[in-house]
Parts: sequence; structure tokens; C-alpha cells
Amino acid sequence: MRKLQNILVTGGAGFIGSNFIRNLLGEKDFEGRVINLDKLTYAGNLENLKDVEKNHGGKRYFFVRADICDSDAVNRVFREHDIDTVVHFAAESHVDRSIHGPAEFIKTNFMGTFILLEAARSCWQGKEGAHFHHISTDEVYGSLGETGYFFENTPYDPRSPYSASKASSDHLVNAYCHTYNLSVTISNCSNNYGPYQFPEKLIPLMISNIREEKNLPVYGDGRNIRDWLHVDDHNSAVWAILTKGKSGETYNIGGENEWENIKLVHVLCEKMAGFLGKEKEYYKKLISYVKDRAGHDRRYAINCDKIKKELGWKQSYDFNSGLDMTIKWYLENAVWIANVKSGEYQKWMEKNYGTRA
Ligand code: NAD
Ligand code: TYD
Repeated sequence: MRKLQNILVTGGAGFIGSNFIRNLLGEKDFEGRVINLDKLTYAGNLENLKDVEKNHGGKRYFFVRADICDSDAVNRVFREHDIDTVVHFAAESHVDRSIHGPAEFIKTNFMGTFILLEAARSCWQGKEGAHFHHISTDEVYGSLGETGYFFENTPYDPRSPYSASKASSDHLVNAYCHTYNLSVTISNCSNNYGPYQFPEKLIPLMISNIREEKNLPVYGDGRNIRDWLHVDDHNSAVWAILTKGKSGETYNIGGENEWENIKLVHVLCEKMAGFLGKEKEYYKKLISYVKDRAGHDRRYAINCDKIKKELGWKQSYDFNSGLDMTIKWYLENAVWIANVKSGEYQKWMEKNYGTRA
């Protein structure tokens, strides 16, 4: 089992990264420190980590506001905190935004990963046990028809600027393993859901719009399929890889839980009706089919037998109760959503951390 001491988490103020940090600091087999390096883009939110800062700030948890593309800042963090492990979440993560503005995706997802790898290469020369874990997506494999699954050896076929930028960074990580003998692992995960997800992604967007009785925009014919996994299950898989994964290996992570978008939106409408005391069909009238996303991938489905067999990981949430818990979280945290959406949060950030990068 790999021993981890000073973990650099990039993008730790985002959705998956903030959940990862919270779980990591509660992990019984981890006694080390976490350094969260985040640029705080529109998607990064320190409110996600208020409890962590309160309980562990300055002791086992440290926040550094920096861009992963800033080589000096990254190298400084590696040296000042004697980093031995990197868990690299930081990215521009939304496909729609990548269609409208790909440049930032290439910069952060590709160049940023390069800067981190270079820092690891120069700071870790010969450092025993040092390891770099790269968080990636199933979208690098392209789009499936009605049958079949993505395996770890499925050829890459990215089709959006987002997935192409993630695919390129995956190749770079592998290249550093082969060329420089850097200890690395990569995980390619399916769609996540859970608390603290920015309400631009399907599930929190629908929950938030249902609550406000706004239109529910369903792209195209609504029959695209995604494989949904609770964020805690993603993060327990990352922990398994960090502690037991083999350098040079890729691990697929998935929910084995495929849903057509429109069916999922129906379920969200029905569940929300239950929570908010409306009759079952009440919110479905808000559904509106809108113009399809350009290049919209039809179906993603992950085969995750490898991580199950080799590292003993499995999902722990069933989708029905996971969704209930998630909906309740968004209902109980309406202020969080309001802050994120109204720009209040952005103003708060500017006041506390200066003008946004
Ligand atoms: P997110 O958009 O919620 O968070 C991204 C975080 O990265 C934010 O805190 C942001 O401030 C930070 N960031 C962005 N650019 C940065 C930069 N240049 N320097 C430093 N920090 C920067 O994303 P997420 O949904 O939490 O995704 C995290 C990772 O997981 C990404 O690499 C994404 O590709 C991958 N992933 C996400 C999903 C999903 O369903 N959300 C599925 C599979 C893989
Ligand atoms: P999204 O959450 O953006 O994740 P990804 O594109 O990375 O899979 O979208 C999930 C699916 O939902 C995808 O097929 C696009 C679709 N979608 C809609 O139909 N309407 C929406 O408003 C959004 C955000 C997504």
C-alpha cells in the first residue's frame, strides 16, 4: 500500500475535488496534509470547503490560490510543502462551454497538466514513493451506439474540445511515465452527481430550474445516454488507485447505471414533486426540447471490471437513494445555489481574494 504524506490536490474548490478533500481528511488510513491549489474560476468555490477550513485549516489543510499554468507558483508549492502525491482534478469541465470557447480548455487542461508534470519531474528526481494521479473522463473514448462499453484499451476518439483537451492530457501523462519513469496512474470516469456540483451540469441544473419552475432544456431528442455515478463513489475509487494502483495503469470508473436524459429528467420531476408537495406530473410541463448540442455524443457506458477485480473497489450508492440525498442537499442549500448563480459568490471572492484571474 502506497504511503501518502503531502498531497497536492489541484482543482480542490470544484465539485469533485472539494468532495474528495472532505472525504480524504476523514479517511482513517490517511494522517497527512492536503494542499489545495485552485485558481477559483467561476466553478471554484471556497464555500464548498468552509467546514474543512474550519476543522483542519492551517493544520492538515492548506489553500493556495494559483493557476496550474503558472509554473513558478506550482514549483513553489511542490517545494514549500514537500509534495509527494498529486491528485490532478483542475480543469475546465463543461462541454457546452468548450464549444463556445475552446481556448481556455486547451490552456488549462493540456498546458496546465504539462506544467504540473514538469514540476513533478524536476522536484521529484529520485523521490521515493512520489506519485501523480490524473483525473480524466470516459468522454475521451468517443461515443457508443446502442450496445458495447468503453474498456481501458478502447482507442481514444474524443469529439468535443473538452474531451480532446482531456485526451491530450492523458497522452502526456502516459508519455511522462514511459519517457521519464514518473510514477503515474489515470482514471477515466463517467458522469458524476452529488452535492456541490455547479448548476450548469444536467442534474443540478434541472433540480434548480424545477425549484424555480423554469424551463427544463432537453437537448435534441433527449435520448442520449449517460452512465451516472455518485461523486463519493468516484472518490473512493480514486483513493483505491492512489493507495493500491499500479504505475502506468489506467482504470475506468463507472456507475453501471445508464439513463436516457429524458427518462432521468422525468425521474427528477417526479421526485421533486414528491419533495415539494405537488402532484406527480406537475413539473413535467416545464420540459422543453431545445436545439441539440453540436457534436452531441450519443451514449457513454463504462466497463469497470478492472478496478473491481484488481483493486477491490465497488460502488456503494444505489441511484434511487443517491438522487434523493442529492435533491435534499440542493433543497437544503438553496443559498449555495443562489450565491453561485446570482454572482454573490463571485463578489465575495473578489472582496476576499482580489480580482479574479
Ligand atoms: P469543476 O468545474 O466543478 O471544478 C474544476 C475546478 O478546477 C474549479 O475549482 C476551478 O476553479 C479549478 N480550475 C480550473 N482551471 C484552473 C486552473 N487553470 N488552475 C487551477 N485551478 C483551476 O469540475 P469537476 O466536475 O469537479 O471535475 C473535476 C475533474 O474531474 C476534471 O478534471 C474533469 O475533467 C473530471 N471529470 C469530471 C466528471 C463530472 O461528471 N463532473 C466526470 C469525469 C471526470
Ligand atoms: P452534462 O451534465 O453537461 O455532462 P456531459 O455533457 O459531460 O455528459 O450533460 C449530460 C447530458 O445531458 C448530455 O447528454 C447533455 C444533456 N443536457 C441537456 O439535455 N440539457 C442541459 O441543459 C444540459 C446541461 C445537458
